Amino acid sequence: MQAAIIRSYGSPIEIAEMPKPSPDKNSILVKVQSASINPLDNWAISGALQNVMPVKMPHIIGYDVTGTIVEIGSAVRNFKIGDLIFARPDTNQAGTIAEYTSIKAMDAAIRPSNLSNNECAAFPLVGLTAWQSLVEVGKLQKGQKVLIHAGSGGVGTIAIQIAKYIGAFISTTTSDANFALVKRLGADTVINYKTEKFEELLEDYDLVLDSLGGEVLERSAKVLNKHGLLVSVSVKAKESDTLIERMRQHLQLVYSWPSGATLAELALLLEKGFLKPVIDRVYPMHETQSALDYLNKGRAKGKIVIDVLQGK
Ligand SMILES: NC(=O)c1ccc[n+]([C@@H]2O[C@H](COP(=O)([O-])OP(=O)(O)OC[C@H]3O[C@@H](n4cnc5c(N)ncnc54)[C@H](OP(=O)(O)O)[C@@H]3O)[C@@H](O)[C@H]2O)c1
Repeated sequence: MQAAIIRSYGSPIEIAEMPKPSPDKNSILVKVQSASINPLDNWAISGALQNVMPVKMPHIIGYDVTGTIVEIGSAVRNFKIGDLIFARPDTNQAGTIAEYTSIKAMDAAIRPSNLSNNECAAFPLVGLTAWQSLVEVGKLQKGQKVLIHAGSGGVGTIAIQIAKYIGAFISTTTSDANFALVKRLGADTVINYKTEKFEELLEDYDLVLDSLGGEVLERSAKVLNKHGLLVSVSVKAKESDTLIERMRQHLQLVYSWPSGATLAELALLLEKGFLKPVIDRVYPMHETQSALDYLNKGRAKGKIVIDVLQGK
């Protein structure tokens, strides 16, 4: 099968012939329709995460997928051949930018029936990250005030919609080119991070979702109320032990985790129209390197999708 691979850390993406995976007894084999990319792919490719997340070379990239089940492991009971699923596979089973991928059945869910292939592929990793951060860790409640940084990005565009669904008051940061987008998604207050200081405009917040780390994380503590919580998904947040120690009482670092059960719940919200994936660009598989280069610029409005069937 064809797949987007790297042969060593930092090497460019190649589209190469790889063996078709065979699922173990707890896994499903999926014929991929679409996948999407995340900053995590660029971290993994560069080798920046090799101490915590080493990969075997050659390595197939990708942590998001939708497709059709073509084979099931002997212990899998909750799916059948022909089911259309979406998933954020476990890190050591990743490799979704390929014609086939094998995924643990517990990490997949039947996909929402009202979305396109590309929309389904755009959702799992950012959907789980936003839900786990705001709801499972942040315990966001109706009527509370939440600040969502980078509301126009992959995580931010879904986080705003989840906070809206819950009934929170939402402030978000982005640049002026994305004001209309984040307003349409449900933001109540939009702050231009290039010209305004959010910590001078906001106060008494119950929750902040940070995906930027560094000084943004530090400044974010100033908008919290006495019981407020700062949830950070930024890899950079982990770089400063002193910052983490100083903010210990108010800070939770979140690494999102795969969960087919949560994805199944979120599929209902997608079907009912409370959530809708935002897609910036779609690339065919042979242009995966260009897609990653665009992602690396940090200017994506929503998600970047790889349409694996395009050109087939
Ligand atoms: N821990 C986890 O489990 C987890 C999971 C998912 C993601 N993450 C991390 O979360 C971060 C965001 O991921 P993502 O997929 O949302 O990234 P992304 O889609 O690439 O984010 C791009 C967006 O960020 C906005 N942005 C950039 N700098 C900003 C700033 N200083 N203030 C406000 N907005 C800014 C950009 O808007 P402009 O063009 O207007 O600048 C753009 O729309 C990444 O570092 C990723 O590694 C962690």
